[in-house]
Amino acid sequence: MTPDAAVPNPWWHGAVLYQLYVRSWRDSGGDGYGDLPGIIERLDHLSWLGVDGVWLSPTMPSPDADWGYDVSDYTGVHPELGDLDDLDALIEEAGRRGIRVLLDLVPNHTSAAHPWFVDALSGRDAAHREYYVWADPAPGGGPPNNWKDATGAPAWEFHAVTGQYYLHNFLIGQPDLNWWNPAVHREFEDILRFWFDRGVGGFRIDVAHGLYKDAELRDNPPLERENPLEGRFGLRPVYSANRPETHQVFRDWRSLADGYSPARLLLGETWVGDAGRLASFYGAGDELHLAFNFPFVFAEFGAEALVGVVATTLGALPAGACPVWTASNHDVGRFPTRWCGGDPRKIRLALLLLTTLPGTVVLYYGDEIGMAEVDVPPELRRDVMTMEGAESHPNRDRARTPLRWDSSPGGGFTADDVTPWLPFGADPAGSVEQQRADEDSVLWLCRRLIALRKSELGGRVARYQRLDSPPGTWVYQTGALVVAANLSDDPVVVPGPAGPVLLATADSPAVGDADPLLAPWSGRITRQP
Ligand code: NOJ
Repeated sequence: MTPDAAVPNPWWHGAVLYQLYVRSWRDSGGDGYGDLPGIIERLDHLSWLGVDGVWLSPTMPSPDADWGYDVSDYTGVHPELGDLDDLDALIEEAGRRGIRVLLDLVPNHTSAAHPWFVDALSGRDAAHREYYVWADPAPGGGPPNNWKDATGAPAWEFHAVTGQYYLHNFLIGQPDLNWWNPAVHREFEDILRFWFDRGVGGFRIDVAHGLYKDAELRDNPPLERENPLEGRFGLRPVYSANRPETHQVFRDWRSLADGYSPARLLLGETWVGDAGRLASFYGAGDELHLAFNFPFVFAEFGAEALVGVVATTLGALPAGACPVWTASNHDVGRFPTRWCGGDPRKIRLALLLLTTLPGTVVLYYGDEIGMAEVDVPPELRRDVMTMEGAESHPNRDRARTPLRWDSSPGGGFTADDVTPWLPFGADPAGSVEQQRADEDSVLWLCRRLIALRKSELGGRVARYQRLDSPPGTWVYQTGALVVAANLSDDPVVVPGPAGPVLLATADSPAVGDADPLLAPWSGRITRQP
């Protein structure tokens, strides 16, 4: 993978994106849920940090069986979060600060409450019947094939009135759309235009690998080894997702998005386990602009694993493609807990690595303060998908709790006498306010890293080269920067280039000549003379 010097870089190349879970960021209305006006109130936090774009978790009307990933109106705003005027104002206010707003688009399925599905239930000849995936019972009765939903139950729900099953790869309340139907393509192209015309900077595309299903609805083959990226519940989703026809959807959307000025960003949730398939979503530079790299997300936080996944990714992506590095999200959890077990040295080091790898970084809200996951007691949990099904994935509420802005009872998230929709944890990271007051905090380190990245690497995908270093360490050059990381429990001598240290995690904001001895779980950045 080499940077494409001939083509002017779009704004997202090398950008810092920030995933903002709207319900947990800032509650302006005093109902315990974060909302769009709340984001406007706190936009200065994002511009202070230096982010270029913000991806909002689902904002469209929804019954919230899956917290917005069950959409009942693709051109509206969920009334609990605000209205279209609030969204317009947010786009404008963010734009004034140089921040683009991306929405979450859910094209794999709708809510069962969407008018298309309500109509589809009315009869086999309903206008929207073929918007969804329907099938007759198997010859002996029962579901049409062996596919399972996200809870491990059969992915088919019988509709007695019309005598057929409908497909739901996630919850019963999330019927899958039928992408073999050209009308579905037209609907989504109109939806894209609707938001792009309003100034939305692009979309994060939910379940991007999943849109088309096998035309013959063949059984999924067995899964040899449990691995969340290869399949679940003993099956590999070869036919229920991952179909080649989906690529044409992205080629069509790419021409549409590139027709805008500036081009609108398409960032896919590409839940695939190998770099080759990940690369396929970039097409020949004519599909998604960016694709989430889940092999990196799920890599172990160690030198060998990370070096390997970065090399494989960069080796697989087509020329000019921009990789994406992220380590936390609302499904997989937070890296300060997952990768770092709360160890502040590791949290600092992980931020240093994320922000210096060549490509685009997506931070999750709270990453900037090293926010930990919260053990949400069962009676306070809100995520239905992880409550249903014994074998289901771990509870996701733990990574969706409100951001603690200050140490008041409402955390600066909501009013002091309001109970937030999910509890705060007793987070050792403290609040945004506390960390703003301490220039040695994770928050300040994060800000300095972003500023350094901008001044040294900004606006392009820098050339990455791994340099020789002892086991347990990782040293690479990216642009003119040399990053040295010790991902081990022992101090290691890692000779760096002569010259001043621009940034170090161990004694931030240290500057001075590089000490060749790198403390355990620490990193430093120098510049090639
Ligand atoms: C991926 C989303 O990130 C997740 O939260 C959701 O439950 C599923 N897609 C279904 O939309």
